[in-house]
Amino acid sequence: MSKLKNKVAVITGGNSGIGLGIAEAFKNEGAAGVIVGRNQETLNSAAAQLGNNFIAINADVTNLADLERVFKETAEKFGKIDVVAANAGAGTIGNVATIGEADYDQAMDLNLKSVYFTVQKALPYMNDGGSVILIGSNAAHRAYPAFTLYGAAKAAVIFFAKGLSNDLLERKIRVNVITPGTTDTPAFEKFVPAEQLDAVKTHFASVMPIGRIGQPSDIGKTAVFLASDDSSFMLGAELLVDGGMTYLAK
Ligand SMILES: NC(=O)c1ccc[n+]([C@@H]2O[C@H](COP(=O)([O-])OP(=O)(O)OC[C@H]3O[C@@H](n4cnc5c(N)ncnc54)[C@H](OP(=O)(O)O)[C@@H]3O)[C@@H](O)[C@H]2O)c1
Repeated sequence: MSKLKNKVAVITGGNSGIGLGIAEAFKNEGAAGVIVGRNQETLNSAAAQLGNNFIAINADVTNLADLERVFKETAEKFGKIDVVAANAGAGTIGNVATIGEADYDQAMDLNLKSVYFTVQKALPYMNDGGSVILIGSNAAHRAYPAFTLYGAAKAAVIFFAKGLSNDLLERKIRVNVITPGTTDTPAFEKFVPAEQLDAVKTHFASVMPIGRIGQPSDIGKTAVFLASDDSSFMLGAELLVDGGMTYLAK
């Protein structure tokens, strides 16, 4: 399998969950590159899992100087970048009656601002004709309790695919977005007590039209498509990889 042979990729949040699924799928198609996160332990284990063609860089995607360092170091080590997957994010929760300004800024900084500047800081180091992959969420299309800010940020990320594609037409850099439905990742553990994890995942699977929750590999396969020439006529598009949960009423 060599759809991404000789391609250099950067995957933010590549040390966990969906990002690691994307990195794994890229590796299997012959890509080399960099995963980015803050947790050194999971960065080390993910880099070991990905093998010699991938390295890990510890950086905070909400920090613009960190982002510049990531892309500069990637280009120094691997040459110009072909694919950027701006995946890092988190399902921040809160209700409008109580959420504070600092929580608002934190949610938007991580889920929206970081995506914009990940793309901006990558540009000087990217090849023309490259591919940028953003990660949206089902929560951008349906209002879930307490996910208002997260959903709004992801709705804007879905717009970024169109707007940034337009901004980058001259360089033929295509920007597309994958919208996952509920996907089995360590993010669950941040919201659900360990003893309830299995029951909660079983419940989510039962309400999914397709009868199961997603796996990071489901998103990885789609990311390979968007990164490769197979999708060369696609830009500004959103691909729902959600087991039907956005539009099918079960
Ligand atoms: N799982 C789902 O059901 C689902 C559904 C729809 C959309 N999504 C989206 O998919 C993406 C990945 O989520 P996931 O479920 O795979 O979650 P996850 O397993 O918790 O992974 C999140 C990743 O983002 C990184 N990250 C978070 N904040 C960061 C920061 N400030 N700087 C650098 N890296 C940061 C984390 O690394 P460190 O902890 O090392 O910083 C981690 O690698 C997110 O954008 C999420 O919103 C997930």
